[in-house]
Amino acid sequence: MSQKLLYIETLGCAMNVRDSEHIIAELTEKDNYALTTSPKDADLIIINTCSVREKPVQKLFSEIGAFKKIKKEGAKIGVCGCTASHLGEEIIKKAPAVNFVLGARNVSKIKSAVAKDKSVEIDINYDDSSYMFGEYRQNDYKALINISIGCDKECAYCIVPHTRGEEVSIPMELILREAKKAADKGAKEVVLLGQNVNNYGKGFKDKSINFTALLREVSKIDGIERIRFTSPHPLHADDEFIEEFAKNPKICKNMHFPLQAGSSKVLKDMRRGYTKEWFLSKAAKIRELCPEATISTDIIVGFPGESDEEFLETMEVVEKVGFEFMFSFAYSPRPLTKAANMPNQVDEEIKKMRLLTLQSAQLKIQEAAHKRQVGKVEKILVESRDGDIYFGKTGSGFGVKFESDKELLGQLVDVEITKAGRHALSGHLI
Ligand code: 5AD
Ligand code: SF4
Repeated sequence: MSQKLLYIETLGCAMNVRDSEHIIAELTEKDNYALTTSPKDADLIIINTCSVREKPVQKLFSEIGAFKKIKKEGAKIGVCGCTASHLGEEIIKKAPAVNFVLGARNVSKIKSAVAKDKSVEIDINYDDSSYMFGEYRQNDYKALINISIGCDKECAYCIVPHTRGEEVSIPMELILREAKKAADKGAKEVVLLGQNVNNYGKGFKDKSINFTALLREVSKIDGIERIRFTSPHPLHADDEFIEEFAKNPKICKNMHFPLQAGSSKVLKDMRRGYTKEWFLSKAAKIRELCPEATISTDIIVGFPGESDEEFLETMEVVEKVGFEFMFSFAYSPRPLTKAANMPNQVDEEIKKMRLLTLQSAQLKIQEAAHKRQVGKVEKILVESRDGDIYFGKTGSGFGVKFESDKELLGQLVDVEITKAGRHALSGHLI
């Protein structure tokens, strides 16, 4: 069989990046594909989609059209991921150039989906794909590892429970085996992935197996020098977990802590399960036990019913906590979600204004945080290079550039931070 070429485009979160790695592993190890970075040479073009906001979903169809124009004759197009789960057959009806649709929870069926024409696999109830642990990794030094799949929360704005299904924790021995395998292949850092990582163990008979226990076990693996995880849920941030985060030297000192909104009323409407005070007390505990930690967050502005005063409460929490990093979004109504049908939708112009206000305040906080790094000597895992310019991240999550003519990819090196820009830091190798 002659070799075929696969082009894959990945949108969305780290979970999608890992799903793409599973897809690549299946098609390169069990089928006859090799990766290409050129869609026009590919025999198979896959778009691994995200549906968390409306814009990327709209863009999907224009993208399919663009791929259809440039693709080789006979080349196939597949749509995978969250939008595949959500729109299913509709995708093929609207874009007949698409050969198959494969949902986010059906990754293990990729080989048969490619073989059949017009197959639609979007069952969210059962799939063992996240137990499959294909060998392929985009980055050998930094291994993404699923610890749970799906989500049982009912955040009123979020489509994910409908695209990734029920929350299932992966057995600890499988995760540890995966982490050891990655370490043997040279991984220095593991990133533990799940929608609510600190709810790990939900549904296990043995209640002693929780996220803190998993962190302790992963940190015993030789060769793994850094552990990251995304995302914890503020509701499940108990003292044991925050203490482990603070004192375990292998855990990178960045906590992603999605606030979503700073008003308790909006949080209640969002069904987040915590109040503003709860969030502030947890953030204070992180700062107290681990002063060197950074806290990053996700915020949605313009959730249905959010008043000007309630938005100002979000601004207050942002100032109080001083998040070093933030991802902020204007609320986007999603089908199948409770909030989409709420009567008091916020005007688009107001959402835009609030987003700008929030982002400009955040930029100042971030700039100040960057300035505070100057003069520090930090361990950096070198992730990429462009000529003699290397890039890597500190444990606390700051991106740093520095110059060297040595071969440093994948190494942990000491860098002194010498300059703070708005978006990145630069330094020199020690
Ligand atoms: N509109 C805007 N942002 C959203 N997010 C999730 N759903 C929506 C939505 N409907 C954001 C949340 C989440 C991040 C991944 O995306 O902040 O944490
Ligand atoms: Fe990831 Fe959510 Fe986007 Fe799915 S919808 S790819 S889970 S961010």
